[in-house]
Amino acid sequence: MLQDTFGRRFYYLRLSITDVCNFRCQYCLPDGYEGQAQTFLSVNEIDTLVKGFAGMGTCKIRVTGGEPTLRKDVSDIVAACAATPGIQKVAMTTHGGKLASHAKSLADAGLSQVNISLDSLDPAQFALISGQDKLNAVLDGVNEALIQGMSVKVNTVLLRPFAESQLSTFLDWLKDMPVTVRFIELMETGQHKAFFKSHHTSAEPFLARLKAAGWEVLKRGADAGPAVELQHPDYAGRIGFIMPYSSDFCSSCNRLRVTALGKLHLCLFSDNGLPLRDYLLRGDVSGLQGFITEKLADKKVSHYLQDGVTGITKNLSMLGG
Ligand code: GTP
Ligand code: 5AD
Ligand code: SF4
Repeated sequence: MLQDTFGRRFYYLRLSITDVCNFRCQYCLPDGYEGQAQTFLSVNEIDTLVKGFAGMGTCKIRVTGGEPTLRKDVSDIVAACAATPGIQKVAMTTHGGKLASHAKSLADAGLSQVNISLDSLDPAQFALISGQDKLNAVLDGVNEALIQGMSVKVNTVLLRPFAESQLSTFLDWLKDMPVTVRFIELMETGQHKAFFKSHHTSAEPFLARLKAAGWEVLKRGADAGPAVELQHPDYAGRIGFIMPYSSDFCSSCNRLRVTALGKLHLCLFSDNGLPLRDYLLRGDVSGLQGFITEKLADKKVSHYLQDGVTGITKNLSMLGG
């Protein structure tokens, strides 16, 4: 099992398969995707990568982007991950705009869990935040994923001007929706320092309010990630909070990241990615494993976001969040 010098164990790989996205979320790609055409990891390279990680104890893969469903071979990628011995769960993080048409083939390929970015249930607010008038398409995606038997989480980035209405409308929605809505504190990225200043808001008061209203914090398993989750007997759904600005957030870190160009990132806000691609092109599983094991010793105790250090992470689309 991969383990760092702080005793954290890493059994969860976040694999970005493209950094292209066709949404324009204000906090991520407000001007749309502006990168050059690049050759992202092929299904063969991904196969080698996942074999390497699975051989070191990884049992969960989350396919991310950019927007992963923009790749035509997204189902083949999911299938390759799911077929790797040792991989027990394949998940995806998506904006959900294409999910209504993709959910069945993804489920057939082995996808069991999907996290959908959805910042507002109000059509105008949704369009303002995401740059796309596609609320209904995303909601159809949520429903189709449930129909296909997937476990569904919604990611809602808390934005100061909308936070009160985000909380109240999602609460209403959760009365009957069997999904988990996770409110995420806006993180400061290199490209969006001014936006962060005007839009960041702490989730602490919202968490306190829910606890006072009878929401019960769920016990976290030994290997659970940093999200805090709550349930309430009157609600079909659950609520979660992702609070990277809280002091012990990184102590439960359980994931590593690989970008669509095959760079290993030890943290969402670490320094330069470490190149894995030569190993992947050669199909060199044991060389890959040796390199990752050696480099993991450099993983830092925390991301230092509290100190305003964002590293080279310009936006989360480049790393898959
Ligand atoms: P589960 O596998 O369902 O627990 O999901 P997840 O929270 O790992 O994945 P998801 O892609 O839905 O991420 C939700 C949000 O959490 C995104 O905004 C991520 O950027 C953020 N996030 C995930 N992992 C980390 C992390 O290691 N550090 C920080 N700072 N944020 C993270
Ligand atoms: N802060 C917090 N969350 C972000 N996301 C993208 N950029 C940021 C940011 N700066 C979220 C997206 C998506 C997830 C992968 O990351 O909304 O749900
Ligand atoms: Fe696209 Fe996700 Fe970035 Fe929004 S947050 S622009 S959906 S990559």
